[in-house]
Amino acid sequence: MKGLAVDSVFDGVQMGTGTWQWGDTIFWNYDKAEGEQKALAAFDRSLDLGITLLDTAEIYGMGVSEKIIGKAIMAERLRSTPRPFKLASKYAPLPHRITRAQFRAALKRTRDRLTVHSLDLYQIHWTNPIVPEEFFANLLAEALDEGSISAAGVSNYNRAQVIRSHHTLTTRGHTLASNQVEFHLLQRRIERDGTFEACRERGIRVIAYSPLAMGLLTGKYTPENPPPGMRGRKYAAVLPKIAPLIGLMREIGAKHGDKSPAQVALNWVIGKGALPIPGAKNADQVEKNSGALGWSLSDDDMAALDAMSDRVTR
Ligand SMILES: NC(=O)c1ccc[n+]([C@@H]2O[C@H](COP(=O)([O-])OP(=O)(O)OC[C@H]3O[C@@H](n4cnc5c(N)ncnc54)[C@H](OP(=O)(O)O)[C@@H]3O)[C@@H](O)[C@H]2O)c1
Repeated sequence: MKGLAVDSVFDGVQMGTGTWQWGDTIFWNYDKAEGEQKALAAFDRSLDLGITLLDTAEIYGMGVSEKIIGKAIMAERLRSTPRPFKLASKYAPLPHRITRAQFRAALKRTRDRLTVHSLDLYQIHWTNPIVPEEFFANLLAEALDEGSISAAGVSNYNRAQVIRSHHTLTTRGHTLASNQVEFHLLQRRIERDGTFEACRERGIRVIAYSPLAMGLLTGKYTPENPPPGMRGRKYAAVLPKIAPLIGLMREIGAKHGDKSPAQVALNWVIGKGALPIPGAKNADQVEKNSGALGWSLSDDDMAALDAMSDRVTR
């Protein structure tokens, strides 16, 4: 089994930084004047704080996120002591992009934008209903064989899709490294439908996206002050119900040295055995999120948060 690269991609990685915000104007209102400088500073602070995994995708800002990371990496190479980093990106299997040639060309463009020969983790962003999972698993295996990626991942896959992809990769002498899914205190589907369990049983890392529920679990948004744009619409039904959860997170955070609701939310994800990748628009958010590391919620805290999350999401 060629498992070594898979082990090393998440070696010592408890949390990453998500970069959908870098370039995206649809959900995240990317600031064209200052967004790039802020993103570069967020990259820099991530590495300073030992948060070495950066998660991007070709569709984030239609390549802008990958380009910003590429710029940051070029600057990193000029440092007298470059800091370690790991890059994860994703292939978008849109209806008109389901051939081997398109996959290979997209991976090459991603590597070019990121300015790397080999990507640490390449993920299929979501499933395409007319393409069997085995097809993309075989393309990932081919990229692993060629060395253009070090680990293969998927995203938004359910239990059966994970199992099929993993099986295909193992028949090719590889493994499935990760499944990136939405997972946070307001979204726990993977715990209930067997996806998390299937990953755990096979040593597949669960990467938790939107671990702050797109900012809601920071406690800064309320029904009177909802998040702007599409986020406000997405969470319109749940926002009026989360005050008791935020209150409990504050209470629990206070016991652990004044941890914020965001830090409690991220620590809860880590306590579940998943890898959170909070999106950060600037260095300050990275710094605050790093306060989720180096301590642990107790079993009682986890149980209390689970119970409250059940209550507010019913
Ligand atoms: N595979 C997929 O399909 C998929 C889908 C979604 C996301 N992702 C990945 O997962 C990453 C994280 O998910 P996400 O970005 O959707 O949501 P998230 O991490 O739950 O929320 C990120 C947002 O919360 C706010 N925030 C972050 N840290 C904060 C702090 N310390 N204090 C106050 N506010 C803070 C910021 O927005 P404001 O300041 O504007 O509130 C930030 O943009 C993405 O960047 C992306 O890499 C993958």
